[in-house]
Amino acid sequence: MFKSLAAAVAAFGVLTGGAAAETYPSRVITMIVPFSAGGPTDTVSRLVAEAMSKDLGQQIVIENVGGAGGTLGAGRVAKADPDGYTLLLHHIGMSTSASLYRKLPYDTLNAFEYVGLVTDVPMTIVARANFEPADMKALVEYAKANKDKVTYANAGIGAASHLCGMLFMSKIETPLTTVPYKGTGPAMTDLVGGQVDLMCDQTTNTTNQIKGGKIKAYATTTKERLAALPDVPTAAEGGLTDFEVGIWHGIYAPKGTSPEIVAKLSASLQKALKDPNVVKRFADLGTVPSPDADATPEALKAKLTSEIARWAPVIKSAGVYAD
Ligand code: MLT
Repeated sequence: MFKSLAAAVAAFGVLTGGAAAETYPSRVITMIVPFSAGGPTDTVSRLVAEAMSKDLGQQIVIENVGGAGGTLGAGRVAKADPDGYTLLLHHIGMSTSASLYRKLPYDTLNAFEYVGLVTDVPMTIVARANFEPADMKALVEYAKANKDKVTYANAGIGAASHLCGMLFMSKIETPLTTVPYKGTGPAMTDLVGGQVDLMCDQTTNTTNQIKGGKIKAYATTTKERLAALPDVPTAAEGGLTDFEVGIWHGIYAPKGTSPEIVAKLSASLQKALKDPNVVKRFADLGTVPSPDADATPEALKAKLTSEIARWAPVIKSAGVYAD
């Protein structure tokens, strides 16, 4: 029946892989979020996981594995069994960390299967509510005059808040004292409490705090003002030109996860991104779901590959590395 052992093994692999895909998912799925609970990545993940759970008929449990700008959580998934029961939802940091970290615990372009893009979230430059500068122009002047005093929160090297902060500091040609957290969820607590001065964070974490008057917003990193934050000027309006930063997010599985399971997850992601609750909550938080054409393995692979190439020279010239 089988010409060779290899053919038999291959056939068995196809059979079991196919059988596994047919009954998948038959138990709870874990989605690793590589930042602390309560932050923007966590917020996006919980909304998407809830909608995908409904579609798949199995619970997707969020596990927050923060640290090292998201690379600890990504490393956990890279080493997980490729059975479809461990997923990663991560953002642009997947691409920047490939250049920032000299000893990553995984090979970024070869350790994962790609499920699809989820959303591209704008950022906001925000401060504690009683921070003195009234607008972006005053903020830049104040930061230059008080560079040894002003503190800037981020979620570690490779985080979106780190990337935005790196761009901001190079724009104003002033290094600020950075205060690292395991996510901008806990960083936000300190910003609201006044323990730290500044942060650049995603609208999924800042919109409600800005609307509630708990923090001050200086700018959005978008070409146009956001419908969710109509009173917040763009960075360009504040004099920071070429300061458009979008934090794209994707879902990954460990390398070797079967194509059938990856396809099932991608189809479920596309449905979840059209879920009315996801669409509304994303809009309320200043972002929009990725369209079907982007919520695919091919689109995420292309995005990650191009973003690694885009940020490598920027990071190299900034001379920022993590060991
Ligand atoms: C978070 O979810 O905590 C943020 O994505 C951290 C960051 O990337 O700045």
